[in-house]
Amino acid sequence: MDKRPIGIFDSGLGGLTCVKEVLSLMPCEDVIYFGDTGRVPYGSKGRDTIVKYTRQNIKFLRRFDVKYIIIACGTASSAALPMIEKDYDTEIEGVVKPASDEAVAATKNKKIAVLGTAGTVRSGKYAEVIAGADKSISVLQKACPMFVPLVENGYTSGKITEEIAREYLEPVIEFGADTIILGCTHYPILEKVISGIVGESVTLINSGAAAARHTKKRLAELNMLGDEKKRGSVRYFVSDMVEGFAELGGMFLEREIGGSIEYIDIDGVV
Ligand code: DGL
Repeated sequence: MDKRPIGIFDSGLGGLTCVKEVLSLMPCEDVIYFGDTGRVPYGSKGRDTIVKYTRQNIKFLRRFDVKYIIIACGTASSAALPMIEKDYDTEIEGVVKPASDEAVAATKNKKIAVLGTAGTVRSGKYAEVIAGADKSISVLQKACPMFVPLVENGYTSGKITEEIAREYLEPVIEFGADTIILGCTHYPILEKVISGIVGESVTLINSGAAAARHTKKRLAELNMLGDEKKRGSVRYFVSDMVEGFAELGGMFLEREIGGSIEYIDIDGVV
């Protein structure tokens, strides 16, 4: 048993889709969440900046003696984690490997599409990991940059969202993927819209949920799950307005944010 908390970070609010899965799979775990709301978005930034931010976020979470870190952000997982993971003795996992493993297991026609931010697609990490697991699988990566602002502004359904989604998904339908990785924190919120366009027979992999499942398995393997007799708590930290996080966070978490929300000057973490 290991009673230390699990650390989770994202570029902002979206990582709460992963927190939601962690809380439902491992209700006894304590969680420290950091949302880098002051520096979001990561998806449109260059690799060096994302690496710098990721290192600071990890350093901040390690102050809490976390036993394991989940990078819920698709962009940081693909563009930064591969460059830095060897530098820490804390085990750190992003969303790429867990989501890719589930997609490789799910595909029957060996065609997987990956939807993500521009930074995630540019990194090519999903294609690399999937090829490492099975070379016969073809991968189509598609950046969907409008999905994040649509979700954050409440456009989670309706005509405008459907029209944009249809345009993004056209090449995916043409490619014939039977499995789609939702490789960005915000995309599970659009699951119904995406499924309505590609058809219900296409398997959608929620990358944050895959990371949560992987974490539970890994902690069990390492004999590091928490105390099953108690209920876990969550402390949230943000690098911008606490009020904004509380307001929008509920949409990603699908319930009210229960724990405390505190501000942290992340630029001061060096
Ligand atoms: N959290 C980011 C991701 O999953 C999306 C938002 C951003 O661009 O920072 O890639």
